[in-house]
Amino acid sequence: MNAIMPKLTLNNGVVLDAVGFGVYRSAPAETTVAVETALANGYRLIDTAAAYRNETEVGAALAQSGFDRAELFITTKLWVDDYGYDAALRAFDASMARLGLDVLDLYLLHQPLPSDFDLTVASYRALETLYEQGRVRAIGVSNFGTEELSDLLARTDVVPAVNQIEVHPYFSEPGLRAFNLENGILTEAWSPIGGVTRYWRHGSGAAPKDPLHDPVIVRIAAAHHKTPAQVILRWEIQLGICVIPKSVTPKRIAENIDLFDFSLSAAELSDISALDTGVRAGPDPGTITRS
Ligand SMILES: NC(=O)c1ccc[n+]([C@@H]2O[C@H](COP(=O)([O-])OP(=O)(O)OC[C@H]3O[C@@H](n4cnc5c(N)ncnc54)[C@H](OP(=O)(O)O)[C@@H]3O)[C@@H](O)[C@H]2O)c1
Repeated sequence: MNAIMPKLTLNNGVVLDAVGFGVYRSAPAETTVAVETALANGYRLIDTAAAYRNETEVGAALAQSGFDRAELFITTKLWVDDYGYDAALRAFDASMARLGLDVLDLYLLHQPLPSDFDLTVASYRALETLYEQGRVRAIGVSNFGTEELSDLLARTDVVPAVNQIEVHPYFSEPGLRAFNLENGILTEAWSPIGGVTRYWRHGSGAAPKDPLHDPVIVRIAAAHHKTPAQVILRWEIQLGICVIPKSVTPKRIAENIDLFDFSLSAAELSDISALDTGVRAGPDPGTITRS
């Protein structure tokens, strides 16, 4: 138990750390060591997905860690190719076999499928079944906007515990975060330090701006003798957002959880929030289709 780690409580009472560790684009060969390094540095929440193709390597790190299962909080996600009630249940079993787990802490629909929302709902129904059976401690969604969340809430029984969405200073989604909050849904930030601005290229090939180099972030980081990544993560934590930064670099893995010896003032928080452009850097979730 990390005594200084802030905790967040989901709408069903399940508690998780405010800072977790992501493994998207962690090559399988690097993932086990990265997760072991994260665990050694105090992370206990690990965020993977079937689509990342590294659940097996995450599972290997968990098995070798020696931690009590209750100390760890593991999230994985159902990819759209496995949507449908029965297909989702099969995909869950396959993920659990790869992770080497009996019970999962959080299972998310990776994306809404706007072209077939009935299939999205059927998949969420499968998550509800897994939740009722006690095979997952909490269920939720990712990349859902307000319209899709409203549709889902109207057609299902268990309110998602989490909506994992793109959030960083240049795309901070204040409206969607407020909607999540009003509905008892925790916002979890993917690309919390703007990773997507560095690895994703839109059709034009133009690179979006990188918040780690923003003058406002750099100024606040200098004032606190912290790094830009630490300032951004601290801003999100102080806004009540769960963050899951990814790194395969030991120094950065340590840096991204070393966030509890400083705090940002109200003015600093609002200066960072003012950087929002309203323009996402990642793909538009509304355009996702099955392969
Ligand atoms: N639900 C979804 O659709 C979705 C989408 C994207 C991501 N995610 C989840 O969110 C997690 C985090 O998002 P992300 O990986 O897109 O982006 P991120 O965590 O914001 O940024 C990761 C990138 O930044 C670099 N980095 C890490 N720490 C750094 C630091 N302190 N200083 C400078 N650079 C640093 C990493 O490089 P190195 O690894 O080379 O150090 C990596 O390229 C993912 O791993 C995944 O678990 C979910």
